[in-house]
Amino acid sequence: DDAVEFTGAHQAGIVTPAQDRLHFVAFDVTTDDRDELVEVLKNWTAAARRMTAGRDAGPVGAVEGERFAPPDDTGEAIGLPPSGLTLTIGFGPTLFRTAEGVDRFGLDARRPAPLTDLPAFAGDQLDPAISGGDICIQACANDPQVAVHAVRNLVRLGAGVVSVRWSQLGFGRTSSTSTGQDTPRNLFGFKDGTNNLKAENETALDRFVWVTDDDSGADWLSGGSYLVTRRIRMLIEPWDTSTLDEQHRTIGRTKGTGAPLGQREEFDPVDFRKQVDGEFAIPETSHVFLANPTNSGTAILRRGYSFVDGSDGLGRLDAGLFFIAYQRDPETGFVQVQRNLRLDAMNEYIRHTSSAVFACPPGIRDDADWWGRALF
Ligand code: HEM
Repeated sequence: DDAVEFTGAHQAGIVTPAQDRLHFVAFDVTTDDRDELVEVLKNWTAAARRMTAGRDAGPVGAVEGERFAPPDDTGEAIGLPPSGLTLTIGFGPTLFRTAEGVDRFGLDARRPAPLTDLPAFAGDQLDPAISGGDICIQACANDPQVAVHAVRNLVRLGAGVVSVRWSQLGFGRTSSTSTGQDTPRNLFGFKDGTNNLKAENETALDRFVWVTDDDSGADWLSGGSYLVTRRIRMLIEPWDTSTLDEQHRTIGRTKGTGAPLGQREEFDPVDFRKQVDGEFAIPETSHVFLANPTNSGTAILRRGYSFVDGSDGLGRLDAGLFFIAYQRDPETGFVQVQRNLRLDAMNEYIRHTSSAVFACPPGIRDDADWWGRALF
């Protein structure tokens, strides 16, 4: 229920132990006026400071204000604790230059080279209406009402300058980002996040997650990270009729304990040379085989959430995993792993339906700082 510190070298919500709930929102900026946009970013930062501390979005509050004016908070979080709320902002490639090539805010020269649209991948079934975006905010909290309240108030404060392009709720974390957390399960019923990068492994975070001064053309992004989101529909009906053995061989781990095939405990090392009955225990087409750093040559910080968005109109649940990954460079992070997953046995059971990439600036330093100050 406690508050997570809003200021710091890095933004909260990246290596912060993954909270239980997500409300993710991507915005289109609807103005061409740089000052208007800066004004919203400042107002958002002030509101985010307050809301992450468990307070109302505005200084007056939901019910203390003037009778004949709209309140400066919408009220649905009155009485709720901070619930570990984090608000993490990212800037998409189209903020710097629109799809039509227009540099609306004089930012194109400031665009870091790695911030470009992701390449197409085999099997992609992306819906442009729920992909991309000029700005994103990832709200994570242990109470869904707190996450939704935060996003809703930021949307309200941005009215006339930004509009919601798409948004995604996540009801349960599918990853752990700290060694202190239990590993949750995804909708395939498997433990997810076992071999994730963890907050405690700072050497790996410096190598794979945080952008440094030396990284291409992005001084304002130093200490930040790139965010990739993929809405991945999980075809749970065929999955649910596959055998337990097939499920194990698809993932490369056992469903019960989460141990790598051929091992006993969840955190036993993944050993691709291990044989059982004259065969490699972990199939070469399994998800873990192909995603593991030994074969992908890289690592990413995963922070995804399960979703169920009603039905697909064909008698099936529209369910899946809203995949979120943080990395130092999308090309040597998500893109490299995803290319390596081309022959993943799991592909039979999943479809990527949305995609986005954002550059998340470093943390808010002090009371005068605001989201994007070093960029604008
Ligand atoms: C590992 C599930 C998509 C990258 C795992 C594990 C599971 C899993 C159960 C094993 C536990 C663990 O170590 O965390 C899923 C499901 C997905 C999905 C259900 C889609 C619905 C992806 C995507 C990527 C990815 C799109 C990246 C492109 C990884 C990586 C690991 C992993 C890097 C760790 C492998 C290791 O180091 O051993 N995933 N995954 N996953 N997954 Fe996924």
